[in-house]
Amino acid sequence: MKNDFLEYYGKHNISPVRQDISDIEIHFERRKKLYRQCGIPIMAFRDAEMLEVGPGGGYNTLAFFYWNCKHVDLVEANQRGREDMKNLFDYHSIGEERYKIFPCKIEDYVTEKKYDIIIAEGFLPVIYNQREVIDALTALVAENGIIVITCGDDVCFFIETLKRLVGIVLTADISDYDKKVKKLTNFFAPQLSKLRGMSRKPEDWVQDQILNPALVNGMELSLLQAIDYFGEEFDILGSSPQMFTDYSWYKDIWYDYKEESRIQFKRKRLSLLQANMPEIILSLEQADKLVEFFEQIKKLETQYEKDLNINAIGQIVEEMHSMKKLVQECFNNQFVDVFHEIEQILRCLLQKENIDMEEYPNFFSAFGRTQQYISFVRK
Ligand SMILES: C[S@@+](CC[C@H](N)C(=O)[O-])C[C@H]1O[C@@H](n2cnc3c(N)ncnc32)[C@H](O)[C@@H]1O
Repeated sequence: MKNDFLEYYGKHNISPVRQDISDIEIHFERRKKLYRQCGIPIMAFRDAEMLEVGPGGGYNTLAFFYWNCKHVDLVEANQRGREDMKNLFDYHSIGEERYKIFPCKIEDYVTEKKYDIIIAEGFLPVIYNQREVIDALTALVAENGIIVITCGDDVCFFIETLKRLVGIVLTADISDYDKKVKKLTNFFAPQLSKLRGMSRKPEDWVQDQILNPALVNGMELSLLQAIDYFGEEFDILGSSPQMFTDYSWYKDIWYDYKEESRIQFKRKRLSLLQANMPEIILSLEQADKLVEFFEQIKKLETQYEKDLNINAIGQIVEEMHSMKKLVQECFNNQFVDVFHEIEQILRCLLQKENIDMEEYPNFFSAFGRTQQYISFVRK
């Protein structure tokens, strides 16, 4: 099965998932918060038999060693990722008896082992065989074991999609990959510095969010799809952000909280549009209309990347114009201002005018909640 991630990383010999671990305690605190939101206290990692799929350079894996897991099997199909990981573990004096690296895709990984905790972060939304990979993960988890995955959809990527469009336009006449990366890094680094807690290197972010073709391959994995894929054998343990509330009486073990979660997701999912946005709960009708709109914007941006025909940008402006009223009705000023600024920028692009991002302070500092994490526990 074609894998756009692996093709792109392999072609450029990159693994652009480095984390700033200059203060390793802060790095571990971030990881601890993620798993707390996912309903997993770090005590659960103690003595755990673990599998991590797609660890890249292994930055996040360091936390599992720190929390005294028993052993981690690491399935990483990108050679550069494996090399970075080995170097990182050696640098941090992680003994080789504590882990084993498997140079293959998870769908080709064969073992008799069952794992207490499986981590598969940062790749499922954009691979074509999501179902096959989720089936592989569920087959490998022990009874009462936990699986953590990452989700992402066209709504939460809206702001990044438009940043990406600006980046693609700005570098349309540069063919050399490294030059593109350099120009875009200079362009986006000041914007990324506005995002509190951002721990990725701007260069990696550019390679992964702006230039990675996997992100516009038409795939997505919403939390809703993930809940459906995991089916009845699994309970939802938690999620980051924590979107789902469950008011049912604990003795009501028949309560269909998954159905309730599905409805909550549909009504709350627009809260994923922008980082730090307060929760927004819409009617199903409003939400569906907006989701359709954001999907259409993603399609048009993808179209532009394919043929660099400016008509697609014109269509995005038209679509945005037609949604203005609904956007104003549904969102607070924080997002409405971003929306207006994007429209202005796109009009400049259509006129082939130069853009000074500092003139658009709201869009400049805005980012989406591009990744959501959800954990499941085998019943
Ligand atoms: C964006 S990186 C995420 C790295 C890290 N998990 C994180 O969240 O920061 C995705 C990783 O998944 C790996 N990957 C993609 N598809 C895979 C597959 N089918 N099997 C194993 N690894 C895969 C890629 O090589 C890459 O290292």
